[in-house]
Amino acid sequence: MSMDWSRKWFETFKGVVREGVDLAPFSHMRVGGKAEVLLEPWSEEDAATAVRICREHGLPLLFLGGGSNLLVADEGVSAFVLHVGRWNRVVRDENRLIASAGASLPSLLRKARESGLGGLETLVGIPAQVGGAVHMNAGTRFGSTFDHLASVRIVDPEGGIRDLRTSDLEPSYRDGGLGDSLVTTATFVLEEESKETIRERFTEFLEWRNRRQPVTEKSLGCIFKNPDGESAGALIDRAGLKGERVGGIEVSTKHANFFVNKGGGTAAEVVRLIEKVRERVCKEFSIELELEIELWGFEGGRG
Ligand code: FAD
Ligand code: EPU
Repeated sequence: MSMDWSRKWFETFKGVVREGVDLAPFSHMRVGGKAEVLLEPWSEEDAATAVRICREHGLPLLFLGGGSNLLVADEGVSAFVLHVGRWNRVVRDENRLIASAGASLPSLLRKARESGLGGLETLVGIPAQVGGAVHMNAGTRFGSTFDHLASVRIVDPEGGIRDLRTSDLEPSYRDGGLGDSLVTTATFVLEEESKETIRERFTEFLEWRNRRQPVTEKSLGCIFKNPDGESAGALIDRAGLKGERVGGIEVSTKHANFFVNKGGGTAAEVVRLIEKVRERVCKEFSIELELEIELWGFEGGRG
């Protein structure tokens, strides 16, 4: 991998420009190779500057959040990867929480609980950043990110900073409908409730998840989207694939739509296991499973 670019182009960019950065530590599954360049902007304006520079010079640009739904090839990704993990503020304004994109969803939920603001409990246990959760419209069968989202601030693909009302967007299953825009801030409108009630619901949803999902292991959550009216996990399970393994990567014995890194696994092994599972499910049920996770640096993927 090697892109044709010059540091001089980034003279007006305020933030960190690092070359050859290992992305495995950013990945919830702890696999994958390097980003050719990692950009960490100080501010929203600096992120907009980065977007404009990349656009002007035709440089591929990708946004990295909590790395909980991304698989980066072992060979790395030939792109500029913009990361806003340092933007981690969550501020309360009456019944609203205004969260920077790099804040973790768990920290947003903690702030909501401590503030006596209810509604986000259904998202407990999703290890995303706020920006990634908005981009993906992360959720569960009980509720999703957009349920309480009032507005978002974005940097659009042209490098313009814009405020969007959620009512103008069309979120769907695992898609916030924001396309290639960078989410910088999200404002949630919540209900004032007793802290005790919120805590109880929080515990209830957490226990539900802990019973069903391998939450303590290194995974990317569900690998495949649920096909209409079906659960991908149930199909993989019925195909007898729980515990199926390629190298260090295993189909979880707890929830079959989670692949877990048992130690020393690689991105190539994840892809081989994906192929194996897809083939078997297709053979058994004539259903083509569609990926929920995003691939970076692979043929047909991004970067
Ligand atoms: P990343 O994985 O870093 O990126 C995912 C996508 O979001 C990429 O396209 C990326 O470019 C984009 N993105 C990231 N940040 C931004 C930004 N600031 N602006 C614009 N785009 C951005 N998902 C669910 O929906 N429901 C669940 O119940 C659930 N449970 C999970 C449980 C576990 C244990 C794990 C590991 C994952 C789970 N997931 C779940 C998957 C994952 O957490 C979600 O898809 C989440 O939305 C990904 O957010 P992230 O910040 O980690 O994004
Ligand atoms: N099931 C099995 N075997 C398995 C897994 C599930 O038989 O190995 C069965 C369950 O018993 C249940 C049905 O399949 O009858 C559905 O399972 P579950 O309730 O666990 O939900 P899911 O459809 O597998 C979805 C989301 C999860 C989300 C949960 C909770 C998708 C792809 N998955 O899982 O989201 O946490 O509902 O609402 O939509 C994610 O997107 O990464 C994710 C983890």
